[in-house]
Amino acid sequence: MNRASLQQQEMGLGPAWQPRAGWFGQHPAQLLRQSLQTAVAQTEPPAMAMAATPPEPLPAHRAELAAPPEAPQIAAQAPEPTPIISSLVERAPTTEPLRAEVHAELVPVDWPLLQRKVADCQDCRLCETRTQTVFGRGTPQARWMLIGEAPGENEDRQGLPFVGRAGQLLDNMLSAAGLDRDQDVYIANVLKCRPPGNRNPAPDEIAACNGYLLQQIRHIQPTLIIALGRFAAQTLLETEDSIGRLRGKVHRYQGVPLVVSYHPAYLLRNQPDKAKAWQDLLLARKIFRQAES
Ligand code: URA
Repeated sequence: MNRASLQQQEMGLGPAWQPRAGWFGQHPAQLLRQSLQTAVAQTEPPAMAMAATPPEPLPAHRAELAAPPEAPQIAAQAPEPTPIISSLVERAPTTEPLRAEVHAELVPVDWPLLQRKVADCQDCRLCETRTQTVFGRGTPQARWMLIGEAPGENEDRQGLPFVGRAGQLLDNMLSAAGLDRDQDVYIANVLKCRPPGNRNPAPDEIAACNGYLLQQIRHIQPTLIIALGRFAAQTLLETEDSIGRLRGKVHRYQGVPLVVSYHPAYLLRNQPDKAKAWQDLLLARKIFRQAES
């Protein structure tokens, strides 16, 4: 029994909550951690150090991009940047140093080579069903980086992220915030290949693709990152927390301020939450200005 459980028992607070066997082992954050640990253990890191041997294929998890009923209000003042703290991290306190170490070991790959590696990638089953990979869009000199989930049908066909209806909404929101999608922003996804039928990304697919995203972030060195939707947020922050818990705060990813917002596809189905997404964008703009000044 760990120290916290012993303290709780002493206080008469009943048995400590325990994760259900198997569930956390399949969570993207946990699989990612396993792949990072594998990468660190390797004496000679491959060019895509993060793409460690993928675990056994798992059934796709189907959880929706649901927002919790009571998402917290945006604080008028953006809180101080906080370290990433989640129940998962508390159980595994080495997450941040481990990730930093792996990032340091990541062998930089130049941009054209990285694009070729993604285009040729066969690291997971999605290569069998994709039309083409979707690397990203925008200038690598962009100061804002937006990270979505995975290509959909239109993106798979055109080879560019966010070109469907969700993309149009995103474009409108960006331009309302004074941002040019191609000049100011670089847009990428957690997955570079479309999951068939637009199903949710599977944990092993996220783990297999993560090295590419890390390389992209490392190249672009954005001033600010916006994670769009739960898969991007949970993958980057290595947490299981819901969007409702994660948004309205400033997180950090490798020292870069990171703001979480709803996925535009979710907003198409849940119009009232557009106002919250707009608040997220305003928060991001404020943090961006602070960081650039
Ligand atoms: N949804 C995403 O997350 N990314 C895209 O590129 C398109 C839709």
